[in-house]
Amino acid sequence: MARILVTRHLTEGGLDPLVAAGHDVTQREVDVPWTEEELVAAAPEFDGIVCLLTDHIDASVLRAGAAGKLKVIGNAAVGYDNVDVATAASVGIVVCNTPGVLDHTTADLAFLLILAATRLASDAERDLRGARWEGWGFNDHLGRDVHGALLGLVGYGRIGREVARRAEGFGMEVLHHTRNNTGFPGYVGTLDELLASADIVSLHVPLTEDTHHLIARRELALMKPTAVLVNTARGPVVDEQALVDALEAGTLFGAGLDVYDGEPAVNPLLFSAPHLVMLPHIGSATTATRTHMARLAAQGVCDVLAGRTPPNAVGV
Ligand code: GLV
Repeated sequence: MARILVTRHLTEGGLDPLVAAGHDVTQREVDVPWTEEELVAAAPEFDGIVCLLTDHIDASVLRAGAAGKLKVIGNAAVGYDNVDVATAASVGIVVCNTPGVLDHTTADLAFLLILAATRLASDAERDLRGARWEGWGFNDHLGRDVHGALLGLVGYGRIGREVARRAEGFGMEVLHHTRNNTGFPGYVGTLDELLASADIVSLHVPLTEDTHHLIARRELALMKPTAVLVNTARGPVVDEQALVDALEAGTLFGAGLDVYDGEPAVNPLLFSAPHLVMLPHIGSATTATRTHMARLAAQGVCDVLAGRTPPNAVGV
């Protein structure tokens, strides 16, 4: 029987694989991220850790864990930029994530932002709730059409392709850009070309050194002044100051964000930027999907402890 730390209370049934394998599970019931000191102190005592994207599993935690009995991290998220995978590999700790199980739910959310940002839903709702609505106005809250628009996907993994499928139902033309040619129809060889031609740009890349501020001032300037930018990937992929400036100057029509640089802190300038729809990182937030994510992370931990290589292990 192995000892497993689960850093937060997870949705019901999420830990079933650990329970079925007979592991001894210690779970934090309060919903607050662990500090580095807490993780460093706890890591050596456990064979496996199931954590969330808000837990920073950095080198100090991994080294402390490896000096004890830690063998595996199951990150209950598809993105794993919160885990130092290079150090994990160097100290022999396996890291797993949750690919596949959240594609549809996250694509739904991306589409929600595409629709809401393009149709100015937040500004309109704010006016209604703020008692500023004086009745149906021919010239009020004039958004842009989603149907028939050209959607540019930056990144074309599982989630990006699910967004593309939804776009077909809206009669949109869909193009995509990735570093390597996907070979799929709609591939555009350069990011600049995609940005310059799209009416709506949706980001679906992981956060890496290469994608940090992938969309910065220069890239925003390439976009049409009528265009909309949606980010459900990771906050630092977009230079938020440049985004605020573009929205305020009207050189970008609108934007939808689910993720923020430095979250849960949010750059206060975003709150007053026009034509911006903001959600608090809820891309995968349905009960069913979060339960699938927890189970997949837990199953990866069980696999490693049983001497199997989990299909969801991530490489460096
Ligand atoms: C959510 O952002 C995830 O990476 O799962």
